[in-house]
Amino acid sequence: MLSILVINGPNLNMLGVREPGIYGAVTLAEIETRLIDLGKTLGAELHFFQSNHEGLLLDEIHAAYNKHDGIIINPGALTHTSYALRDGLAAVGLPAVEVHLSNIHKREEFRHTSVTAAVMLGQIAGFGPVSYELGLQALCRHIQN
Ligand code: DQA
Repeated sequence: MLSILVINGPNLNMLGVREPGIYGAVTLAEIETRLIDLGKTLGAELHFFQSNHEGLLLDEIHAAYNKHDGIIINPGALTHTSYALRDGLAAVGLPAVEVHLSNIHKREEFRHTSVTAAVMLGQIAGFGPVSYELGLQALCRHIQN
């Protein structure tokens, strides 16, 4: 059984309430439930962490070393700014997939750059909650191969 950590950054606890025209009506708890169900079919046990604080996200990434097999992460706005998260992910060296609900490449210009994507296996953006499910499938297949 694979152990996968799903990390969500700032403001993602507000899903369902937050700008529904962009992020939809599905809550983070509902996304997590879908991932648990999908994980059962993929042989993966899911663990979840959300924080609005960069340092706490970093502590969780460090704690994943030797504990989990891979990481799914939506760093929220920290995607565009956080060299610390990027370095933290590179430091633990776990396979990771970056996911976004919205297609960051067709939104405001500041969202077009991800400083974290270069240390990931890949990035999936624009499919709403399905971005997480696609990310989990891709990550599990990568690890199992
Ligand atoms: C987001 C996109 C980011 O630009 C934004 O700051 C978020 C959510 C997404 O999932 O589409 O918080 O990561």
